[in-house]
Amino acid sequence: MTPHFTLPALVPEELDIQPLERSETIPSSWYVDPIFHEFDKEAIFSQTWQHIGPASGVEQPGDQSVSTVAGNPIIAVRDQERQLGAFYNVCRHRGGPIALHDCNTKVLQCKYHGWTYLLDGSLRGTPRFDRTELFDKKDYGLVPVRLDAWERMLFVNLAENVQPLAPLFGGIKERISPLALSTKKFARRIMYEVHANWKVYVDNYLEGYHLPYVHPELCNLLDYRNYVTETFEWHSLQHSPIQQGNNLYGSSADPAYYFFIWPNFMLNILPGRLQTNTVIPVAHNQCLVRFDYYYDDISSEGALKMIEEDVAYSDTVQKEDMEICEHVQRGLESRAYNKGRFSVECENGVHHFQSLLKKAYRQALDKA
Ligand code: FES
Ligand SMILES: [Fe+2]
Repeated sequence: MTPHFTLPALVPEELDIQPLERSETIPSSWYVDPIFHEFDKEAIFSQTWQHIGPASGVEQPGDQSVSTVAGNPIIAVRDQERQLGAFYNVCRHRGGPIALHDCNTKVLQCKYHGWTYLLDGSLRGTPRFDRTELFDKKDYGLVPVRLDAWERMLFVNLAENVQPLAPLFGGIKERISPLALSTKKFARRIMYEVHANWKVYVDNYLEGYHLPYVHPELCNLLDYRNYVTETFEWHSLQHSPIQQGNNLYGSSADPAYYFFIWPNFMLNILPGRLQTNTVIPVAHNQCLVRFDYYYDDISSEGALKMIEEDVAYSDTVQKEDMEICEHVQRGLESRAYNKGRFSVECENGVHHFQSLLKKAYRQALDKA
C-alpha cells in the first residue's frame, strides 16, 4: 500500500520498547514536527475507536450527531427502525455537508445542492439530475463508518479492519462495580482549546507527579500519599482515596478513578459524577479537549448546585493543566530538549501510553 502521507524519519531504535526503569521518553520531534501530526492522523486516529458522544443524543428516529474524526466529518444517525448508524458527513455529489450541527430531520439533505438521503444513508432525491447518464442512485449512498457503544457512550472507527471495541475497556466495569456508568445522565459539554500537541496533554493526564506543583488544591481533595497508577493492555488507571471531610463529593468511601483508554479517551469518575475527556488533535501544536459531564441526578435543586460547583472546580484544574502543557510544548520545541527519563514510582502510566504509541507507529510503518 502506498501511503498518502509523508512517513516521518524514524530511527528504528526509537521504536524499541525498553522497561520503565531504563526507558527514555519519546523524542521531542514526535510532538513538534508537523509530519508527526499527519502521521498520527493515519497511524493512530484513523485506526482506533474514537469517542463521539453520548447515546442519549441520538435516541429518537431522525436524531443526528456530528463530529470530526481524524479530520473527517462524521454523522451518527438513528433511522426509522431505530437502528443507529454512522457515515462520513460528506455528500456523494460534490462533497457537501449533510448536517452542520446536531439536529433531528426526517431525511438527510445535503446543504449544497439539496440531494436527499434516507436515514439509513441510501440516496433518494437528486434534483435536476434526469439527463445524467450511467448514473445509478444505488451506487451513491453515504459512506458508512463502523459504530459501537460502551456504557451508552458512542465510538466510531474509520479503519478497514476494525478490532472490537469492548476489549479496550476490559475489566473496567468490574473494577468500579457496584458503581455503574450507563445509568448516569448527560448534563453538558465543554470544549477547551489547548496550544500543545495532543500527546503532551495525554502524557500530563497520565501522572500524578505534577499534582503538588500544578494543582495544590487537588492535593487537598485527594489523599495524595495513596495515589496509585496501574496499567492494563489498552488502558491505565490512576486512583486515589478522597480525603474525608468537607468537600464537594460527600463522604463516600469510593475513590477517585482516572481511566485512560488508548489512544485519547479518559473517564474521570468521582462519587455521583462521570466526566469524559476526548483529546482531538488539530495541529502539531494544538488540540481540542472535549469534556462531557454526566451525573446521577441532573434535575433536583441540590444536584444543579453540585453540578455548577463540580464544573467550576474542574475548569480550574483544566486551566492549570492547559497552562503547564503549553509551557511544555514550548520546552519541547526549544533547542535544549530531545528526550527525558521516567520516574519509576510515578510515571508508569506515561510509559505505558508511549509504549502503545511506539507499537502503533511500528505497525503503521510495517503496513506502508
Ligand atoms: S454536494 Fe451535495 S448536493 Fe451537491
Ligand atoms: Fe493535571
